[in-house]
Amino acid sequence: MRTEIGNAATNHILKPDSWLSGVVGCPAWRVESGSGSESWAMLHTDGPVFAYAKLKAGDIAEVSQLADAGFRVVDTALTFDRPISGQQSSPRSPGIRLSRPEDREAVAGIAGRAFRFSRFHLDPRFPKHLADGIKSSWAGNYFEGKRGDGMVVAERDGGVVGFLQLLWAETGCLVVDLIGLDSAWQGQGIGRDMILYAVLHGTGDGRVPTTMKVGTQAANTPSVRLYESLGFRLTSAQYVMHFHGVAKEHQ
Ligand SMILES: CC(C)(COP(=O)(O)OP(=O)(O)OC[C@H]1O[C@@H](n2cnc3c(N)ncnc32)[C@H](O)[C@@H]1OP(=O)(O)O)[C@@H](O)C(=O)NCCC(=O)NCCS
Repeated sequence: MRTEIGNAATNHILKPDSWLSGVVGCPAWRVESGSGSESWAMLHTDGPVFAYAKLKAGDIAEVSQLADAGFRVVDTALTFDRPISGQQSSPRSPGIRLSRPEDREAVAGIAGRAFRFSRFHLDPRFPKHLADGIKSSWAGNYFEGKRGDGMVVAERDGGVVGFLQLLWAETGCLVVDLIGLDSAWQGQGIGRDMILYAVLHGTGDGRVPTTMKVGTQAANTPSVRLYESLGFRLTSAQYVMHFHGVAKEHQ
């Protein structure tokens, strides 16, 4: 095992991920290309440790190298984009609007219940409550000004049932950072309508997107279908690999 780890160490380095470390409660590292094998030794402490890598889907040799070092594929991440030009459709359903501060609790609650296909949900070594908590605090962070440039919500029967968290990337490119609906409201066109709203209104500050971009998972058929139905096209795919230190699982 040590020799195989040595092979991966020759062309990879570990960068600390302090946010993830706080979430999982142990040192957490992101694997990047580079040389400097001393950092690789951080995976072999006596205590718990977590690391992850995102590799181009065509880099099978690198995937094999990290698999030999104890990393496991947990997810295939897909990126889609969609240029926006000409006349755009409007949302069909009522109740789609920009979020307000008082939506925080409802949005964080939906985010903590709706997701099943994130890399944390797909990794059998992560307890579900931890994976749910990651999504809940991700969406909640929008209301604390820590993540995202805008949020669209969908209201039904006087309550928020879905949200769409948005980020501006390069000029004119609006990123779907997170989208989720309570399960009772899925499959009714609400996800599509929240995206159509963002196409028309951006984040509500006068900027209008010329492109939209989104990342999802190959296992997440409903979301892939949603993006396909709106004309998004696949642009790239990555394997996501996780490493859990042997000393202790995250319980
Ligand atoms: C993914 C999600 C946001 C889609 O929103 P939605 O409101 O349920 O989707 P819509 O009703 O607007 O459907 C849009 C398209 O997706 C398709 N679709 C929706 N749910 C589907 C399902 N379960 N299986 C297959 N296709 C599905 C619809 O058929 C429709 O395509 P069509 O116009 O070709 O018929 C929603 O399922 C969800 O909240 N999932 C849990 C959270 C999540 O995984 N978010 C995505 C992270 S990237």
